[in-house]
Amino acid sequence: MVGLIHKLLFDLVELADGTEAVAEVKRRAGVPKDKEFRMDEAYDDQEWQRLLAAACEVLNVTHEQAEEAYADLFFKDALRRWPMWFQMSRNAREFLERQPRIHNGFATGVQDPEARQSINDKFKLEKHDGKLVMHYRSPNQLCGLYKALAHRISNHYGEKASIEETRCLKQGDPECEIHISWA
Ligand code: HEM
Repeated sequence: MVGLIHKLLFDLVELADGTEAVAEVKRRAGVPKDKEFRMDEAYDDQEWQRLLAAACEVLNVTHEQAEEAYADLFFKDALRRWPMWFQMSRNAREFLERQPRIHNGFATGVQDPEARQSINDKFKLEKHDGKLVMHYRSPNQLCGLYKALAHRISNHYGEKASIEETRCLKQGDPECEIHISWA
C-alpha cells in the first residue's frame, strides 16, 4: 500500500482524537513513532492492516465505520489534490472506469516489481450497458472503502447509483464482486 493511504489514516486519527492518538496507533501496530511514510512509496500490506486495526481500537469504531470515515476524508483530499481526474470525467461511470488506471499509475512509480504487480492486480473492471462490475482482490479487504467511495463519486456527479456486492473476500470468496448500476 502506498504511503498516501497511511498519511490519510494518521490525519483521520489526529482529527478525531489528536496527535497522542496517532502515536498510540503506531505503538499498537508496532510501527516506530518517527517512521516516515512517503506518498509514492509502497509499504508492507500487513503493516497497513495492523495500523488500520489499531486505529479502529483507538477510535473505538468498527472496520466498516472506519472505512466510511476514511472514504470521506479520502474523497475531500482527492478532490483538492487531483481536481483534473474529476474534470476529465463527465459522470460517475467515466470516473469509475478510470479508477483502475489511476491506481495503476501509482504503481508505475514503485521500484520493487512485486509490490508494483500487487497494486496492479487489485482491481479488474468489467463494463456492461448501464452497469459496471468490479472484481476486487486484495489482502487489505477494503471493499467497504470501494463502495463508500463509489457512492461519493456518484453523489459528486449528482447521480444515484445502486451498489451491490455479490461476493466478498470477508465471506471467504476468492474476490469481492461489486455491481454498480444506474437507473
Ligand atoms: C483521484 C482519485 C483516486 C486516487 C488518486 C486514488 C489513489 C489510491 C492509491 C494511491 C491507493 C493505494 C494503492 C495501493 O498501494 O495499492 C488507493 C487505494 C484504494 N482505492 Fe483509490 N484512488 C482514487 C479513487 C478511488 C475510487 C473512486 C475508488 C472506489 C470507487 C477507490 C478505491 C480504492 C480502494 C478500495 C483502495 C484500497 C486498495 C487495497 O486493497 O489496497 N479509489 N487509492
